[in-house]
Amino acid sequence: MTDFEHVSVMPHEVIEYLQPRAGGLYFDGTAGAGGHSLLILESAPDSRVIAVDRDPAMLEIAAERLTKFGDRVTLRRASYEDLQDVLDELHIDRCIDGVLIDCGPSLDQLAGRTTGRGRGFSIHGGDEPLEMAYDPEQSRTAATLLAELSERELRGLFGQTLRGGEVGRVVRAIVREREREPVATPERLTRILQQALSFKAPEAEKRVIAAYAALRIAVNEELEGLERGIDAAVDALCPGGRLVLLTFHGGEHRVARRKLRELEGGPIGPPRLIGGPEREAKVRVLTRSPLDPSEAEVARNAASRSARLHAAERV
Ligand SMILES: C[S@@+](CC[C@H](N)C(=O)[O-])C[C@H]1O[C@@H](n2cnc3c(N)ncnc32)[C@H](O)[C@@H]1O
Repeated sequence: MTDFEHVSVMPHEVIEYLQPRAGGLYFDGTAGAGGHSLLILESAPDSRVIAVDRDPAMLEIAAERLTKFGDRVTLRRASYEDLQDVLDELHIDRCIDGVLIDCGPSLDQLAGRTTGRGRGFSIHGGDEPLEMAYDPEQSRTAATLLAELSERELRGLFGQTLRGGEVGRVVRAIVREREREPVATPERLTRILQQALSFKAPEAEKRVIAAYAALRIAVNEELEGLERGIDAAVDALCPGGRLVLLTFHGGEHRVARRKLRELEGGPIGPPRLIGGPEREAKVRVLTRSPLDPSEAEVARNAASRSARLHAAERV
């Protein structure tokens, strides 16, 4: 596998906002292929990185790429929401200088390159099992959601990424088809979606990908996890420590912006209620408008196209 295939999103901007310093301690909440961890370790002498991922196969890739940093790196299989548990397990009772969360799947997971078997992340996944869970041992999968959710719940799920009129068509098709036979492979799901969405290529492929993203987000409870992860990160940061978030779709952008605004403190309730209760300010937001990748990066790496970078400093 070449390094080109493990290209990290917005690498310069992540380092510019994280500001890794010599001897600092950093938490990479989404190790993936280890690309951002590698940049932190290279840019700050004697810094240390604790990097976690829910997918053990991604940790294997990260371990191989980061081996040259020896004990400056600690890899753990965990969710970034459990940052404090990871620190406790490692007997680390100091604050963290910076936390990075780079949301969503890695290209390796999408392409089924991680474990020797794909897990149904891709619309071209053929007869792979329709799992879509980052943690391969998780019992909730895309197939179980498609089999068990009510029509109303399925509408809520697909409403996260599909447009109004598309949701009803997709849900009706799934409810009809699952009565005939379980929807348990990407081959079958992609065919049902293509028929229900009935657009011409290349728009058709984009809409099918959007439907897959809705399922993946639900399987991994990604939006709830991001919200809890931001709280956990902010609680663990040293004063002046930085939090950097990379988000990739509307749902994630909204959670990141809302959470950071909430953590900036201010009045609870109507803004003009003078003397009303105030929320404690935990962060100063550094990116009033989240950053986009540069045109040059998008030209080099199309997967960065929808990325937004949000950064905040612990007060
Ligand atoms: C976009 S990739 C990260 C790429 C990485 N920053 C790099 O430069 O190589 C996102 C990774 O986060 C992992 N992941 C998703 N949700 C997670 C969570 N709640 N906790 C830990 N890892 C998670 C996925 O398994 C995936 O490997």
